Amino acid sequence: MEVLHVSAECYPVAKVGGLGDVVGALPKYQQRQGWIAKVVMPCYRTRFLIEHEFELVHQGGLWLGPTWYHFNVIREKHNLLGFDLYLLEIPGLIEGDQVYGCFNDLERFTAFQIGVMEWLNSWRHHPDVVHCHDHHTGLIPFMMNYCYKYDYLRQIPTVFTIHNAQYQGQFGWDKAYYLPAYDPWKAGMLDWNHLINPMAAAVKCSWRVTTVSPHYLDELCISAAGLEELFRQERQKALGILNGIDTETWNPATDPRIMHHYDVQTVRKGKAANKTDICRRFQLDETKPLFVFIGRLVYEKGADLLPDAVARSLYESQYALNFIFLGSGDPHMEWLLRQAEYHHHTNCKSYIGYDENLSHQLYAAADFLLMPSRIEPCGLNQMYAMRYGTIPIVRAVGGLYDTVIDIGDPGGYGIRFLQPSVWDITHAISRAMELYQHPEEMLKLQQHIMQLDFSWDKSAQEYLHLYAQLKP
Ligand code: ADP
Ligand code: GLC
Repeated sequence: MEVLHVSAECYPVAKVGGLGDVVGALPKYQQRQGWIAKVVMPCYRTRFLIEHEFELVHQGGLWLGPTWYHFNVIREKHNLLGFDLYLLEIPGLIEGDQVYGCFNDLERFTAFQIGVMEWLNSWRHHPDVVHCHDHHTGLIPFMMNYCYKYDYLRQIPTVFTIHNAQYQGQFGWDKAYYLPAYDPWKAGMLDWNHLINPMAAAVKCSWRVTTVSPHYLDELCISAAGLEELFRQERQKALGILNGIDTETWNPATDPRIMHHYDVQTVRKGKAANKTDICRRFQLDETKPLFVFIGRLVYEKGADLLPDAVARSLYESQYALNFIFLGSGDPHMEWLLRQAEYHHHTNCKSYIGYDENLSHQLYAAADFLLMPSRIEPCGLNQMYAMRYGTIPIVRAVGGLYDTVIDIGDPGGYGIRFLQPSVWDITHAISRAMELYQHPEEMLKLQQHIMQLDFSWDKSAQEYLHLYAQLKP
C-alpha cells in the first residue's frame, strides 16, 4: 500500500500549527506499519531547505490560466524524516519562507496543486491512495475526476482530511480559468454559494472524507461556516479519526528542547526543576501554580477571553496563581494579551511570537494548560501537555471533548467546561486551584495522564482500514 500525502505544511520543514505536526508524524508511523508513505508540499525557502540535501527527481511545466510556470520536484536525500519528502518548487511564484498570508496565496496554492497533478500524471506507477489535507489541496480530487488532461488518474482513490473547516479557500468564478480544462457539466462540483470553494469541492469529489476527531464531524453537521448542509448530505462517506501525537518528538525523558528530563517516576522533581527555570526567566513566583496558554491567537482559540479570566481569577484567589501566554496572530488579540501582562505584571506574562523551544519548555514547566477554544477540530496541545504531565483545562468541544475526561467523571483526568465564557474559564481555574492544594492527588493525575496512549499507532491503523476499503 502506497499513500501520497499532499499538504501545505509538514513539520519540521514548515509548520504553522497542528496540520504541520500531523503531516510530519502520520506518514512516519504509516511507514513503520509497513506501508510506503510519501509527502509532497510546496517548496518554501525555510531553514530546513537550506540545511538539508535534496536531489532533483522531476522537472515539468504548468499553466496557471495563460501563464506558464516551470517547476521542479526535489526529494530530501537521506530519508531523515522516516518517509520520502518531496518539495515542489515553482520559481517566481513560491518564494520566501512564508507559508500563508502572501498577497497571491490563491495563485501559489492553485499552481502547487496543478504541479502535483502534472507530476502524478508523469509517474509510471501510481500511489494506491492520494491523501489531501485541508483546502490548499482541495482542488486535487476535482481535477483527478473531471480535468480531461488527468483522465488517467481518475481511478486513484482520494481521501480528504479536514483539519479546519473554518478556512475554505473560496474564490470567484472569474478565476475559474486558472484550472486546466474540465468537463463543464461538472462545474457544480466546484461551487458553493456561487463561489469556487475548494473545501466543498473536496468534500464532494473525494472518495472518502475524514475529520481529525469524531466529535468534530458531528459538530460540522450542525455548524460548519456555511457548509453544514453539505456535511449532512455527505455524512455517509465521512469518518472522524482522532489525531495522534509523535511520542518521540514529544517525550519529556529525551526532549532536547527542555532543560530537565523526567519520566513517570520522576515527574514531580522534573517538572519542578523546569518550572523553576521558566519562572526565573519570566520573573514569576515559582511556588504558585502555573497556568499556560499556547496557540494561534485567533477567535476560534478563545484567547480573547483570557485577559478578563486572568483579572477575575487573580482577584478571587488574591494573586495566588501565575499565567504565561505564548502565541501570535490577530494583532488585536496580541494587544489584549500584552495588556493583561501590563496590568498584572507580577502574575501574568505574555510572549508574543512563535517559539517552538519555548512551547516545549512550557509544556514541561506548567501545572495546567488552558484551552478555552470556541472551535477545536482536534487540538494537539492538550495531548502534548498530558504527555508532559500538565493537566489540561479545556472547553468540551471537538477533539477536546474526545480526549479529555473531567475529574468529576469516572476515570477522569482533566478539567472541562461548557461555555467559552469568562465565567466558565474562571470557574475551571478555581477547580484547578483546589486540586493544586492536594499534591498527592495532583501527582497521581500527572502520572496517569503521562501514561495515556495518544500516539499515532492506533489512528494510523484506522487510516489503513479506510484506505483498504477503497478499491478502484
Ligand atoms: P492549531 O493547528 O489549530 O493551531 P493544534 O493544537 O492542533 O492547533 O496545534 C498547535 C501546534 O502549534 C502545537 O504544536 C503548538 O505547540 C504549536 N504552537 C501554536 N502556537 C505556537 C507558538 N506561538 N509558538 C510555538 N508553538 C506554537
Ligand atoms: C487544525 C485544527 C486543530 C487540529 C490541527 C491538526 O489546525 O485547528 O484543532 O489539531 O488542525 O489536525
